[in-house]
Amino acid sequence: MMVAPSILAADMLNMERDVQRMVDAGTDWLHVDIMDAHFIPNLSYSPALVKALHKRFPDLPLDVHLMMDNPEKYLDVFCDAGASVLTIHAEIGADAAALLEKIRARGVKAGLSVKPGTPAESIRHLLPHADMVLVMTVEPGFGGQKFNADMLGKLDDLRRMGYTGLLEADGGVCMSNAPLLRAHGLDVAVMGTAMFGSPDPKADMDAIHAL
Ligand code: DX5
Ligand code: ZN
Repeated sequence: MMVAPSILAADMLNMERDVQRMVDAGTDWLHVDIMDAHFIPNLSYSPALVKALHKRFPDLPLDVHLMMDNPEKYLDVFCDAGASVLTIHAEIGADAAALLEKIRARGVKAGLSVKPGTPAESIRHLLPHADMVLVMTVEPGFGGQKFNADMLGKLDDLRRMGYTGLLEADGGVCMSNAPLLRAHGLDVAVMGTAMFGSPDPKADMDAIHAL
């Protein structure tokens, strides 16, 4: 399984040091949460941080999670900034299929995220347009929340519906629930608190990779 440490749990004043620590530990991707204070009740980073991270760590795939309304205005901006994966939310009420195809047309992996209350069935028609489905395992907006195990069933539902693309889980993912997530078909584990707070991220990443 792959791992994508979420920089929400990094020390903002030591971002370079903390990301380097993840790179040295062998990370696959770096997860960057973009929050607009409308779609969810929190505010985080701008495209400038994505650009700066890409400049400093050009070989590190940036997994950008757009928790925002009207993402259509920013897709090109984040692609230009260096995103490798760009994920929009299914609940935004826009033409998600068109947005996912717009991301793909930029040569970037198109991700579709669902909040805990959004059933897999509601995105069935969008699955052919998604390279990755990000299943939120907490209510989006804040790091350090408790993993919602009911979401394991959503991973199963997606596979039962014939979805063969990447599955990512985000929220409360840690070393103890990672094997269970893998057993339910997970490909990418977003880990904020668990990875940035780990005393030995290399050992933990090796264990995740071995799942
Ligand atoms: C939550 C964010 C997550 C968050 C995960 O809304 O999308 O990426 O950083 O943090 P942990 O792993 O600490 O739950
Ligand atoms: Zn996220």
